[in-house]
Amino acid sequence: MTQLPRRAVLAAPAALAAPALAQAYPTRPITMVVPFAAGGPTDTVARLLAQAMGPDLGGTIVVENVAGAGGTLGAQRVAQARPDGYTILCHHIGMATIPTLYRRLAYDPVNGFATIGMITEVPMTIVGRRTLEANTLAELVALVRQRGERLNYANAGIGAASHLCGLLFMSAVGTAMTTVPYRGTGPAMNDLVAGTVDLMCDQTTNTAEQIRAGTIKAFAVTTRERVPALPELPTAAEAGLPDFEISVWHGLYAPRGTPEPIINRLSQSLQVALRSPVLVQRFADLGTTPVPPERATPAYHQRFWQADIARWRPIIQAAGSFAD
Ligand code: MLT
Repeated sequence: MTQLPRRAVLAAPAALAAPALAQAYPTRPITMVVPFAAGGPTDTVARLLAQAMGPDLGGTIVVENVAGAGGTLGAQRVAQARPDGYTILCHHIGMATIPTLYRRLAYDPVNGFATIGMITEVPMTIVGRRTLEANTLAELVALVRQRGERLNYANAGIGAASHLCGLLFMSAVGTAMTTVPYRGTGPAMNDLVAGTVDLMCDQTTNTAEQIRAGTIKAFAVTTRERVPALPELPTAAEAGLPDFEISVWHGLYAPRGTPEPIINRLSQSLQVALRSPVLVQRFADLGTTPVPPERATPAYHQRFWQADIARWRPIIQAAGSFAD
């Protein structure tokens, strides 16, 4: 009898077990960690996704907010979880900036994760309290230059999209404001509506409804094109800041070492969820769209994420603004 190489013999049961593993999964609720506070933009995306993925998976996805330290506490929780498919992470562009912004972390911000697929790219908006003494972006720029650190700027900590957008805005205006960090822009929005902070730059998934309701002032959207959900709002370029452009991509991750059949099962379910009419409509109301299916794959997501880490590294290093 031909002797099989030992490695082939050992690999055979695993290969046979792979489809069975994916078929049997999940047998209990999956925890989707959101690294920011409840009620904010990441939480909104995660909850819509969890609801849409659950039926396809034949199970339940429970969203858990593990907020703090600019999203690094939630990411750490997932990087250090058992790689069994029962703990996953919904995170955004912070996954690309944190590896450079944070030089000391208790987890590996790059190799600690397996990618499942991208979810969406969300425009940001420059917004202020309703009583702010500016009505256009040009008036806001003049006000920021005049008041500087006497104006408060809310964000969700170093590594948050609101932090990144704020840095870009202050650099474009050439004036620093006083930053007020929160555990997420959900609670920051409450204070903006109440008028206890002056300004914020946040994703349309958190601002669109408040802008339409008139509870806050909106000055510009940060994408090249206007957003259909907020057709009256000019782009930053139209309103006088030509190079000011940023959008926030979101992706789904599992701990590194999660079996490939489970990653593929989650990715397949993600792609189904992103076509769900309820999710597509809600995303549209909130100013965003799901990525096409070919981007909701582990391989595309991995390439995009690594390229974005490389894109942000020199920008953050040149700015010298590290979390420590
Ligand atoms: C959140 O969910 O609170 C935000 O995504 C925080 C941010 O990155 O600005």
